[in-house]
Amino acid sequence: MASQELIKRLEETIENFPDFPIPGIQFKDISPIFLDPKLYEDVIADLVAFSKGKIDAVCGIESRGYLFGIAIAVALEVPFILIRKKGKLPPPIVSEKYDLEYGSAEIETREGQIKKGQRILIHDDLLATGGTTEAAAKLVEKQGAAVAQFSFLIGLKDLNGDQKLEKFGAEIYNILEY
Ligand code: PRP
Ligand code: MG
Repeated sequence: MASQELIKRLEETIENFPDFPIPGIQFKDISPIFLDPKLYEDVIADLVAFSKGKIDAVCGIESRGYLFGIAIAVALEVPFILIRKKGKLPPPIVSEKYDLEYGSAEIETREGQIKKGQRILIHDDLLATGGTTEAAAKLVEKQGAAVAQFSFLIGLKDLNGDQKLEKFGAEIYNILEY
């Protein structure tokens, strides 16, 4: 959906750091996007076009999922719900555990912020293994809402994260693929 021009500007702006934070990881630094307000605006417009008319609320994943997620929700005039890392939200909360390469992690939302029957967009900056997003989708479904869409700035193709998301039957969009 994104124009070739937008893709090119993003490719030129996002910085790649091999072997950060650990050997074997290609770290994509999206922070230079925020130095260029026009580029940020164009990215939001693209993500908004993908979701327009199709969702009732946006769930953003802490922390980089907030950078674009809130702007998408405001533009579409729908609620934004924070999916946070463990221990940051006051009770009552709803949580979901998931496995990491070593150990496990947990994400949480405030109970009652996601409403039954809502069509939800789950947004994050990056789809890597898909573990984080899969847990977020389970968290949404557990609260009686449906995952209608996933959107990301970047999808890392080789890690097959999208295979983990297939079972939710939602549309998946990444502006860039590496
Ligand atoms: C990164 C990225 C995604 C997630 C993708 O977040 O922003 O949220 O990892 O990985 P996965 O698809 O393998 O689960 P990170 O946990 O580094 O935290 P941050 O957003 O707070 O920087
Ligand atoms: Mg993240």
